[in-house]
Amino acid sequence: MLHKRSSSKKHASPLHLGYMLVFFLLCVVAYYSVVPGRLQVDKKSPREALDQKLQKTFRLKSIYRHGVGANHRLHQKLDVTPELIHQAGILYQESAAQKQDSEGQENPWSNNSEYTTTNPFDFDFELQGMPLTMKRMKQRDPDFMESYIYGETYMTEDEEYAMWMDDNIVAPNVTDRDTVVSLALMSSNAYVRIPQTGDWRNVTEPWNETEPEDFGWDGDGIRGHVFYNELENIVVLSVKGTSAQGLPGSGEDETTGNDKINDNLLFSCCCARVSYLWTTVCDCYVKSYTCDESCLEKELRRKDRFYSAIIDIYKAVLKEYPDSAIWVTGHSLGGALASLLGRTFGLPVVAFESPGELLASRRLHLPFPPGLPSYLEGIWHFGHNADPIFMGTCNGASSSCSLVGYAMETACHTGRVCVYDVVNDKGWSVNMFNHRIHKVIDEVLLGYDHAAKCVEPEPCVDCYNWNFVPSRSWESSSRLITSTKSQVAPTRTTGTTATTSSSTCIGRNWLGFCTKYDL
Ligand SMILES: *[C@@H]1O[C@H](CO)[C@@H](O)[C@H](O)[C@H]1NC(C)=O
Ligand SMILES: *[C@@H]1O[C@H](CO)[C@@H](O)[C@H](O)[C@H]1NC(C)=O
Ligand SMILES: *[C@@H]1O[C@H](CO)[C@@H](O)[C@H](O)[C@H]1NC(C)=O
Ligand SMILES: *[C@@H]1O[C@H](CO)[C@@H](O)[C@H](O)[C@H]1NC(C)=O
Repeated sequence: MLHKRSSSKKHASPLHLGYMLVFFLLCVVAYYSVVPGRLQVDKKSPREALDQKLQKTFRLKSIYRHGVGANHRLHQKLDVTPELIHQAGILYQESAAQKQDSEGQENPWSNNSEYTTTNPFDFDFELQGMPLTMKRMKQRDPDFMESYIYGETYMTEDEEYAMWMDDNIVAPNVTDRDTVVSLALMSSNAYVRIPQTGDWRNVTEPWNETEPEDFGWDGDGIRGHVFYNELENIVVLSVKGTSAQGLPGSGEDETTGNDKINDNLLFSCCCARVSYLWTTVCDCYVKSYTCDESCLEKELRRKDRFYSAIIDIYKAVLKEYPDSAIWVTGHSLGGALASLLGRTFGLPVVAFESPGELLASRRLHLPFPPGLPSYLEGIWHFGHNADPIFMGTCNGASSSCSLVGYAMETACHTGRVCVYDVVNDKGWSVNMFNHRIHKVIDEVLLGYDHAAKCVEPEPCVDCYNWNFVPSRSWESSSRLITSTKSQVAPTRTTGTTATTSSSTCIGRNWLGFCTKYDL
């Protein structure tokens, strides 16, 4: 028996080795046919795979603009045609001669040697991808997400927990300096003025109002610039808010009403109630350092505000590119909106010098993956420590920001922060002028050999001195949500918030936030 087995084994050996060799070769072939390229998203022929440069190239395809405030129904799209590129190039060179564009932003393209162009609308942006396991919700279509965010979908904690999945996606390679610079240029591209005469088409029709021609440009509103990489089937949506206007250092004194209202709504503790002298942007202030939380939440979700506008733009882009991966980027307010959008739909985000958007994310009840914070959320905030808007030191009644009517009181970011230490490395002091995208690209992103390391943010609490009450009607019983800490703390806080208003809250998300009140 023993002898027989060993002899048969001996006998079969060469055959087994042969099988093993074939199997090994098959594995090698299978491996290389599955992971041929860094940016691999869908199948491509070997010839295409060889063209590495083309593989990384993104081009501007279209521009969306969306009004806010009284113009919030306006939503238009401009296709970037060869004719438009030509026109824009001429206009660009005229404005490049002046070194500043119409919005007072110094032209980020004009003065660096590594990235020069005579026409930023005719430019191939090169981005590298990296694999990322991203925690995001299984269902992310706009209809579902809107009902989730607006509290119309009630789920138990278990159901909510089951909504999450680990998704293997391709995200921008944020450790690659050139990729980070290119994304910043795409963000800055959204600042470059283009001809107003282009063939804008209405996204939503019909309209029944006579509307100004220039919304989303000099006036209120936001824009989304859509860049596309055909081979990899990836879209980059670059978000632009017009609101850098009026801030010291942007070169303009004039501030647009609605942008300031939106900024003060998103980044202040309570409707920009900085002192009794301030005109508040919403009516949620109850009394000294007490604010109506549900009022704030309603205000942020209003159809005529920024959040709703950027969701509209995303829906239009999604309709245009239903099967594409979508990445989002933006500078300043655009970065904050990019972050809110990305968190809503589980999209990778690279934001630059954005004000603290954690508080707004909470108030909007955006989904946060279980196991907070920054659990590979796919959101990266690049910035440097001499920018008061990014660092959240742009607050207080006497700060230079508040002098022009901005109450940017928040400092906390979501996702990961990637901070360049220019204070120590370059001896910079904190100054509004350091916020400008031009300076950030030329002297920070290109001024370092490597992209800043992205880390989990320090524990951070915004508006700690405020009390937020579930709603005004609860003021008399003084059963306040005990502190804002419960609202921004990185761990689950079912205790404090759940007990304080249990009789009025009829819908909660798993973080313990009330999404539905029985008023
Ligand atoms: C452009 O770059 C040169 C050299 O790097 C510098 O001296 C000059 O001040 C820069 N100009 C602007 C407008 O930033
Ligand atoms: C990301 O970029 C860095 C720096 O260029 C590079 O070393 C790394 O290999 C890249 N990662 C991927 C997955 O390509
Ligand atoms: C878009 O809407 C505006 C404002 O209502 C209208 O004047 C314009 O004709 C519309 N454009 C098209 C192409 O329908
Ligand atoms: C026209 O505009 C008014 C005011 O903005 C709005 O109340 C009304 O519903 C609109 N009508 C149509 C048909 O869209």
